[in-house]
Amino acid sequence: MARRRSMFSIFRRLVVIGVLGVGLLTAGALGIAWVALGPTDTVGEVDFDTELVIPPLAESTIDEQGRRVFELTAQEGHLDLGEGAVDTWGFNGDYLGPTLRAERGEEVLVHVRNELPEASTVHWHGMHLPAAMDGGPHQMVEPGGTWDPTWTIDQPATTLWYHPHPHGRTQEHVARGLAGMFILDDPAAQVELPSDYGVDDLPVIVTDPTVRRGAVDGGREFGDRVLVNGTEGPYAEVSTELVRLRLLNGSPMRVYQFSLDDGSPLVQIGSDGGLLPAPHEATSVRLSPGERAEVLVRLEPGETRVLRSIDPDLGQNFLAERFSGGQDRFDVLQLRAADELADSPELPEELAPDIVEHAGDPSAVDRVREFRMSGRQINGAQMRMDHADEVVTLGDTEVWEVTNHGGEVHTFHVHDVQFRVLSVDGREPPPELSGLKDTILTEEGVTYRLLMTFTDYADPAVPYMYHCHLLKHEDQGMMGQFVVVEEGQEPAIAEHEGH
Ligand code: C2O
Ligand code: CU
Ligand code: CU
Repeated sequence: MARRRSMFSIFRRLVVIGVLGVGLLTAGALGIAWVALGPTDTVGEVDFDTELVIPPLAESTIDEQGRRVFELTAQEGHLDLGEGAVDTWGFNGDYLGPTLRAERGEEVLVHVRNELPEASTVHWHGMHLPAAMDGGPHQMVEPGGTWDPTWTIDQPATTLWYHPHPHGRTQEHVARGLAGMFILDDPAAQVELPSDYGVDDLPVIVTDPTVRRGAVDGGREFGDRVLVNGTEGPYAEVSTELVRLRLLNGSPMRVYQFSLDDGSPLVQIGSDGGLLPAPHEATSVRLSPGERAEVLVRLEPGETRVLRSIDPDLGQNFLAERFSGGQDRFDVLQLRAADELADSPELPEELAPDIVEHAGDPSAVDRVREFRMSGRQINGAQMRMDHADEVVTLGDTEVWEVTNHGGEVHTFHVHDVQFRVLSVDGREPPPELSGLKDTILTEEGVTYRLLMTFTDYADPAVPYMYHCHLLKHEDQGMMGQFVVVEEGQEPAIAEHEGH
């Protein structure tokens, strides 16, 4: 008995030593990571000596069927980041792509050409369109191949974007530079806003290049600088009292919290899917990957302001914040006002008071679905290309209840629709979430109730995606698929057993 006991206590001692050892090693590794992944801070360090490049407006022609026709070629290129050129990818150029622009009611056709050494896709992020035109992982374009999606623009004026979506490779393709803006106009829009592209209406595509061995490397999560429209240390000359910035977070993983260096407010006028109901003065605007915001900045003659990203509030525990860029700060873009500034339109009190009606009637909800985000799974499942996780009936208004249970930063993006945030943890959404959205950051343990209506396009065979828009997570399978079917129609791809 005594012998057994002492054997047991030796064993127990060994376990304790082992546990202590592992604990020490973990603490050591964390410590090393803590230092190695220390906060990146470029505030006050950026020279702003390069004029901001404005992506050209894509040329288009009108074909015999009246369609507006664009050409987009994904190709290899180079970008000079100061330490010599690095290999990049871009559309119709070296890095990023031209700005596409079309009006509500117009039919568009895009001739997409893939001149990359591997297959890719072009997804129209935020666009309401048929699933077969969406450019998700089911619409692959082989090297040397072409793809000709066509659809009718039918949604409020806003700032959308396009980027590749090949399953498992999206982070890499976007990081290398494949992204561009897609501006939608609405000829019926009433509000007068600064809208002279490249003059008082500036595209601001913020990317986070992760460079290794002379190439933009999509494997790393975070870079140590930011680019605007591919320009490092950019300044923009401003000649009007008000300048409108169309902010797009085109970074694969990084969350930004934009603010002005002197603490003066940014006036947010738009979110992902269009104008806000009313302008909202904010000291900062947080954007997770894929999100957009339109803001106005008011300048005095001769003054200089810096748009900066302060340490973003990620709604996470201390450790998750630290290792997700939650302490990083960047100087992003300098605005230089001329000595004389042209008048700008008066800012109206209301912008688009009824815009959320687009998402449907909250008192006539046909179905509620729950989405639990955790690990690299949504509702306990990973992306399966041949399964429909959800089947939606055309015309239905639904509430999607999304909760991040993960202890990590996640976001939630839905294809095809723009949604309205009905509530955040049971409360009214904050003003920045009062308009239409297609992507939101999901803070830990908080439930977001999203209202959306699936109009126009049913296709039982081709799914749309919903996913975390942190592209590494998406690539690792944090994505699901839904098909939209006509009432009574069966999906033509396998339905997930759980339903
Ligand atoms: Cu920005 Cu599924 O995409
Ligand atoms: Cu999308
Ligand atoms: Cu995620």
